[in-house]
This record gives sequence, C-alpha cells and structure tokens, in this order.
Amino acid sequence: MKLLLLGSGGREHALAWKISQSPKIEKLFIAPGNAGTAQTGENIAIKADDFDAIRQFVIDNSVDMVVVGPEDPLVKGIYDYFKADPSLKNVPVIGPSKQGAVLEGSKDFAKAFMQRHQIPTAAYRTFTADTLQDGLQFLETLQAPYVLKADGLCAGKGVLILPTLEEAQKELKEMLGGMFGKASARVVIEEFLSGIECSVFVLTDGKHYKILPEAKDYKRIGEHDTGLNTGGMGSVSPVPFADTAWMKKVEDRIIRPTVEGLAAEGITYQGFIFFGLINVDGEPMVIEYNVRMGDPETESVMLRIKNDLVDLLEGTAQGNLNEKTLETDERSAVCVMLVSGGYPGAYEKGFPISGLDEVTDSIIFHAGTTTDGQGKVVTNGGRVLAVSSYGKDKADALQRSFTQAQKIHFDKMYFRSDIGQDL
Ligand code: AMP
Ligand code: GLY
Repeated sequence: MKLLLLGSGGREHALAWKISQSPKIEKLFIAPGNAGTAQTGENIAIKADDFDAIRQFVIDNSVDMVVVGPEDPLVKGIYDYFKADPSLKNVPVIGPSKQGAVLEGSKDFAKAFMQRHQIPTAAYRTFTADTLQDGLQFLETLQAPYVLKADGLCAGKGVLILPTLEEAQKELKEMLGGMFGKASARVVIEEFLSGIECSVFVLTDGKHYKILPEAKDYKRIGEHDTGLNTGGMGSVSPVPFADTAWMKKVEDRIIRPTVEGLAAEGITYQGFIFFGLINVDGEPMVIEYNVRMGDPETESVMLRIKNDLVDLLEGTAQGNLNEKTLETDERSAVCVMLVSGGYPGAYEKGFPISGLDEVTDSIIFHAGTTTDGQGKVVTNGGRVLAVSSYGKDKADALQRSFTQAQKIHFDKMYFRSDIGQDL
C-alpha cells in the first residue's frame, strides 16, 4: 500500500517510524515531514492543509490511504473534501469528518456533547460579548482558581487559569474583546479540577474501538511543572494510576459513551480520539477531546504498540476494527524532548545538531529539524528532538533517554530532567 501521512512534528515522525515497519507498506510519503521522517519515507513539499495540492499528489501517485497527524486539516474538513471528490472518495482518510473534528475545534461543542451523553467533565457555562455581564457575575459564584477557555483553536494557548477573581474578570473581558480573534468570540468558563492528568487514545471505526496505551505528558517548560506551557517536554507510558480498574471506568463512562454518542448523532468518525483526562480522587473526568494523537505522547505510545499499526488503520477505515487485535508491549516507554534555549519564548534556529549517530539505545524522533544546504541536520523549531526509550520500568527507560540525550549537542539545548518523577 502507498500511504500519505500529513504533518511535520515529532508525532508524525513517531507515526512514520511505526507505519514504515509494516509489511503492508510499499511506499510511505510524508507531507511536509522533517529531517527525521525523511529517514522513514519520502518527504513531499506540500503543506498539511493544502487540500488541492494533496488531491493532485494522491491522484498522481495512486496513494491508497491518508493518515492525518495534526488537527488543522481535520478541523478544515479534509475528510469531507475527499468524500466529496469522485476521484478521491475511495481513498480512506484516517481522521474524523469536519463535524467530528468540532470535538476539538470548539470547546463549547465538546462540553455540550459531554453533557448530552452524561460523560464526566467539569461544570461549565459559555459566554459571548453579548453576555459578558453574565459571565462576570458567573465568575463571582465560582471558587479560585478560575478556568477560562477560548472556544476555538488557539495552538494550545487558549486556556487561562487565573488565581484571582479580578484577573479572571479582566481576562474574560479581553478574551471576549478579541484576544484570540474569532477563536475567543465564545469563552467557556469551567470549574477547576484538581488531579493528575492522563492522555488516553483510541482508534475508532465509528462503531468499534481499540484502546491504545495511555500516556502522561509534561507541558510546562520548567522542572516540577513550573513556567510557561509548551507543546510538550516529555511523556511516559504506562501511567501507574491508569490500572485495570481505573481504565474500566474510563471505558465505561467516557470511551464507550463518546463513540456511541458520535454514532447516535450521525457524526462520521474513523480515526484517533484523544481523551485528555484528569484523575479526581480516583474518578476520571474529561478535560478535553482532541481528534488526533497527542504530541509528545505519540513518541512513547508508538513504542508500546507491538503489532502492525497499518493493519489497525485498515480496520479503522473498513469498519472491522473488532476483528483486529492490539498487542501492547509490557515494557515502559518514555520520551524526553530536547528544546531550543529560550523556548517557548523567542529562540534561534539553524544550529547544527551533532551526536545523532552516536545514539545507540534510544529512538530519536525529530520534531523541529531540517537539513541545511549541505545536508546537515539543523534546529528548525522550539521543540527539536524527542529521545524515546524502552525500559523494564519507567526509571530504567528514563535513565536510557537521559544517557543518550547527553550525546546530542546543539547550541543552547535544554531538556527537563524531572520527566515522570511525579508519578
Ligand atoms: P486544554 O487546552 O484544554 O488541554 O487545557 C490546557 C491545560 O489546562 C490542561 O492540560 C490542564 O492542565 C489545564 N486545565 C484545563 N481545564 C482544566 C480544569 N477544568 N481544571 C484544571 N485544569 C484544567
Ligand atoms: N500533548 C497534548 C496535545 O497533544 O495536545
């Protein structure tokens, strides 16, 4: 099979690494990819949301399946674009329809969906500029800290957690006044939940589902979860509190009602669902849905899938996922992100990366890299490389990643050395 994977980050390199191991793959294309994905397949200079260029490429190269890494093309409706085109409609797209992608594209829709299907989540209300006064009053009825969420996509920056009522009221005015443009024309205010987070992933064909290994990610730049939020500084899988009993609650209260709810509402969904969960006194609650895999969770999760991912993707597209098996690797997997100094603020790009050839015991997934004119790998983003490792347990896997990370150098390189320590 010829498969086209869309995206260019660490998540996509990890997906490409796993997909390229499948005996079913005759050719893997990645659009646009990065210096790492180029080692697993052929990079194509097409942006992940340039539907017309993707269309032409799929036709010209007889692509058999498209797998969508990031949310953007999904929210923009790539699934529907394919289905509406006579020459593309038989090429499966792994990812939800535009309607399904609204689970991630609108926090208000996601909250209302959960309410309709009795899926546990924080209490909430949604406000617009017209109902600003109600919003300000509603905040007065809540306890600190205050959680404000822009309704639409904000590249991970749309959630504000404010310690005081004054700050919350000020930020609500700013958000509804256009702080995130159209994305904050509606703002969800919700109850603050206290607990440890866990990311749970499923593949669904719209009817059946397979639960992939869970993971925890580390979002803040600083050790012990301090400082600004980032695109993710590391991840670990498994998550100790996500034991059989907890995962049964997740399946019964969250996963099954979600998949059944989508079907009952006539929403076409054949792809990944990412449940951003929080463990509140032993009870799982949903913080958010995403309609794709997580980054940097994928850089751990892919290591723990033992069987052929492409076989599972075929089941997803064909609606017979129930006939497939998912085998999980018993070992632990972790990922430590190496980032550019200054990130998530301003940082420089273009620094040469050395030592990649010396890494023996870890798997390196490229996130923000490219090749310079001479074919040398250089930094090209804030999050540069994921150092992923197996271990007999979490500590063993982490030690491996940290040891291998020492072999890699680029100017102003930084990583968090406390990944996984809170579990
Ligand atoms: P999101 O963009 O929805 O993933 O939110 C970003 C982060 O904000 C989450 O990963 C949580 O750490 C935090 N968060 C979101 N909603 C809540 C909530 N209701 N209570 C506590 N923390 C939250
Ligand atoms: N790791 C969180 C996300 O991918 O949104």
